[in-house]
Amino acid sequence: MSGTPPVRGLGDVVERFYDRHPYPPPAKDLEAVAARTGARLERRSAHHLVWPERPYGAPQRVLIAGCGTSQAARHALLRPDDEVVGIDVSSTGIEHTRRLADRHGSTNLTLHRLAVEDVAELGETFDHVVCTGVLHHLADPLTGLRSLRSVLAPGGAVTLMVYAPYGRAGVYLIQDYCRRLGVTTSGDDLADLVATLREIPGAHPLSRLLRESRDFLDDDALADALLNPRDRAYTVGELLELIAAAGLRFGRWARQAPYLPDCGSISETPHAARIAALPVAEQHAALELFRGTLARHTVIAYDEADETSGRVDFADPAAERWRPIRVPTAIAIEERLPPGAAAALLNRAHGETDLVTFVTEAELAMFRRVDGSRTVGELGPDARPFAERLYRHDLVVIDASGATP
Ligand SMILES: C[S@@+](CC[C@H](N)C(=O)[O-])C[C@H]1O[C@@H](n2cnc3c(N)ncnc32)[C@H](O)[C@@H]1O
Repeated sequence: MSGTPPVRGLGDVVERFYDRHPYPPPAKDLEAVAARTGARLERRSAHHLVWPERPYGAPQRVLIAGCGTSQAARHALLRPDDEVVGIDVSSTGIEHTRRLADRHGSTNLTLHRLAVEDVAELGETFDHVVCTGVLHHLADPLTGLRSLRSVLAPGGAVTLMVYAPYGRAGVYLIQDYCRRLGVTTSGDDLADLVATLREIPGAHPLSRLLRESRDFLDDDALADALLNPRDRAYTVGELLELIAAAGLRFGRWARQAPYLPDCGSISETPHAARIAALPVAEQHAALELFRGTLARHTVIAYDEADETSGRVDFADPAAERWRPIRVPTAIAIEERLPPGAAAALLNRAHGETDLVTFVTEAELAMFRRVDGSRTVGELGPDARPFAERLYRHDLVVIDASGATP
């Protein structure tokens, strides 16, 4: 095999790259995460985002696939009852993760230097597989995703984040530019690149990302974005095909409002009804094209044989008994409002500024009654359409488990 570069997993160009440029930039400690360990409602909200129907509380087995420098340590710290396994091909990433786990005394984390493609070697299954920012670096992402699906426990879920092409157009232009100039990841080359990027035209597609994204603040992060040896992006349609080909079923986008025609400025246009008449996957694809700036997609998916996990249908009469839970980043703004509005509700985690929903006094009163315990029926008369609006705008998740919180 001499002269043939390995194409996957261990020994690969991507492994060597991340050994030299660990991502995210290593953290000294996780004090900010540790401070949130008491936030039970936040954890319950994260749980029901993935499993509306599954009661919160039972410990879970979680795989962080391609854990980088800190993600698995964060997860273990935030959810001390879960059993967390982190895998990565980069020994530097594993080392940083281990240091963080030791520093915070986590005993619920196991780490392996292992490729996503070989995860079945663990001989274990997981309730939740989290794979963010990894699959698009693999030589064969479909093989990687199939491997992850093969380790799902019954009723398990995959949370997957991959790059999206249109919002990253500027990244791909500059990646190509760097390739043509032979820019390497040496310190001198990175310093020259940073100096050059300061002069990039204000209207260049990369300029918005340079202003808005943390990915350009540090040399390793800059290298990750612009000099990565392998990086591809998925349109909505391509990602849905990848998921189906891996034997998974699309559940939802982790933040769904940007993909929905009834949320944000598109809902005010003459095209809103036309988009809403399309099949759901086409609606999402159309919204990606309309927005033009989505730089990543985070999707929650289930095994294709699992027909029940993750279903939320407000036409179900049981919806009256569901308990909405506010997401931690949902806020109500009560100043500088248009006439007739009592508040503007928004999710601070949305990058899109148009994803605001204006509410009346009566609706604001219902929103204030959302406390994770009250059911939809207890929010007020005829609250179901309003609860659905909150849900579609990513302001609440739904606890449909029937369990008493
Ligand atoms: C952009 S970083 C993301 C890290 C982490 N998931 C996060 O969100 O913070 C990508 C990580 O995937 C790892 N990786 C790349 N290819 C892999 C493979 N085939 N198997 C396992 N890990 C891989 C890299 O070593 C790197 O640590």
